[in-house]
Order: sequence, then structure tokens, then C-alpha cells
Amino acid sequence: MTPHLLTGKRLLITGVATEDSIAFATACRAGAMGAEVVLTAFPRDVGTVRQLVEDTGSPLEVFPLDLTQRSEVDGLTEILRSRFGAFDGALHAVAFAPKDALDGPFVEADPAGIELAFRTSAWSLSNLARLVVALAPAGGASLVGLDFDANGGAWPVYNWMGVCKAALGSTARYLARDLGPRAIRVNLVAAGPLLTRAARGIPRFDALLDAWATTSPLSWSDSDPTPVADAVCFLLSDLARAMTGEVLHVDGGYHAMAAPLHPDR
Ligand SMILES: NC(=O)c1ccc[n+]([C@@H]2O[C@H](COP(=O)([O-])OP(=O)(O)OC[C@H]3O[C@@H](n4cnc5c(N)ncnc54)[C@H](O)[C@@H]3O)[C@@H](O)[C@H]2O)c1
Repeated sequence: MTPHLLTGKRLLITGVATEDSIAFATACRAGAMGAEVVLTAFPRDVGTVRQLVEDTGSPLEVFPLDLTQRSEVDGLTEILRSRFGAFDGALHAVAFAPKDALDGPFVEADPAGIELAFRTSAWSLSNLARLVVALAPAGGASLVGLDFDANGGAWPVYNWMGVCKAALGSTARYLARDLGPRAIRVNLVAAGPLLTRAARGIPRFDALLDAWATTSPLSWSDSDPTPVADAVCFLLSDLARAMTGEVLHVDGGYHAMAAPLHPDR
């Protein structure tokens, strides 16, 4: 760990649900690296996240935020502006899709669920970008999102969430185009599979874990989000000041392999 990497940075971390959340790991690592961290949680999760924060003895504040709503982002922007002032960066750690959009026959998924998945998992990055633009200091800011990607291929499960992640990647590139002149960077970290609440909601998630066991050249732990959190911290830091529109793979090298290395596992 680099203790002072984020000293002087104020960061907004969205998407905390449980202790296992990538967002929670990032908040802990960013705090340890010197950042002042403010959290958001889906309104239904706020109580449990406040308890989680209290249990860890941390003084972090938790604000409710439904990222599918533009009015919620605009309202939170004003609250954060008056309470804290400028923010140097934000993590988008939000995704949702109904079960029938995640597994089963691709063509049978309910279009209403697909629309909700897109709004929650892809469009919401642009919604959060509005807040980042509004609260960025003159020197610019960094927005980071979380992808699940192996060069755009189809997974054995994941279905419409795979489509949403492709859209998230495209959204990040268009945001990078528009916000670059304001020194606001937009990048993604493509993580390997981690056992979080969102992951547990994916039917046959084991198929993805099995793929990592046979194909990742580095050993991969599905219960350790800290390598992903550290990459997010890097992208939020000034070390990444010339990077935007990038996807950083933190997946044990899975995406770079063309075939299973250990098919017998
Ligand atoms: N777990 C993995 O294997 C993995 C791998 C790669 C990428 N990711 C991505 O990481 C991100 C974080 O997921 P996680 O795995 O830490 O799971 P998680 O369940 O801890 O986090 C997902 C979060 O999204 C929030 N959310 C859902 N709908 C929302 C809405 N409308 N507004 C605001 N928040 C909403 C949930 O409340 C939850 O906090 C997601 O984008 C996920 O796709 C996860």
C-alpha cells in the first residue's frame, strides 16, 4: 500500500451494500491512503451500511442515492456542495439486472428488466458524471467505474448484464471525450469474479469462478477485493493523471489468455 497516494483528495464512493462490496474495500483502502471518503448507498441499504461503518469504528458519512434518478444526483450534488465543497473523484460501483436478464434464453428476457438493467448499470455512470462535473475543483477530477470484461466475448451466463457492461465501456469513452477538456478523467477497472451480493445474485456464478480456475495465469481469490480496490485508488490518484478512456484489467490475467491453461482443474 502507498500510504499518502490519496492525501488531500476528497472522494465519493457509491455502491456500498455489504462488507464484501468492492466499494467498501475501496473506501477502506482509499482512507488508508489518506483520502477523505464520503459514501453513498442505495436508499434501502443505508441503514445496514451506516451500521457497517459504525461497526468498523469509522466516522464515514453515508448518503442515500438511487443512481437511476437524475433528480437524486442533482439533490445530492447540492447537499455535498454545501457540506463538503469540492470532490476530487468518485467511484461508480453500481449494477443490477433481474434474474431472467442474467441467465436463461437470451431472447426471452423481459424488456422492462433489460431497460432497468441498462439504466442502473450503464446510464448511471453518466448520471454520476454530472455530480463529478458539478463538484470538481479547478484542477479536475477522476471518475472510475467497474467493468466485467474479457475483450467483449459472451460469457456462459451474465447475458444482458454483459450487454450493459459493453454499454458502460462505451459510456466511459464518450464521457472521457467530453470531460477531458475540463481535466476530468473517466476510466474503468475490469475486475475478475468476486463473491459479493451482486455476484451471488447471478445464477450459475460458479461457471465464472470455474473459468478463472482453469484460465487465469495468476492465482485469483474470489474473496479478496483489495487488488481491485487498489487499482481504483491508482486511477483516482494523480499517478494516473494522463489516463482517460482506459480499461484496466485486474483479473489475474484472464483476459489475456486465448484458451484454458489448466483444463483439468
Ligand atoms: N463481483 C464481481 O465479480 C464483479 C466483477 C466485475 C465488476 N463488478 C462490478 O462491481 C460493481 C460493484 O458490485 P459488487 O460486486 O461490489 O456488488 P455489491 O452488491 O456489493 O454492489 C452493487 C451495488 O449496486 C447498488 N445498486 C443497485 N441498484 C442501484 C441504484 N439504482 N442506485 C444506486 N445503487 C444501486 C447496490 O445497492 C449495491 O450497493 C458493479 O458494477 C459490478 O457489476 C463486480
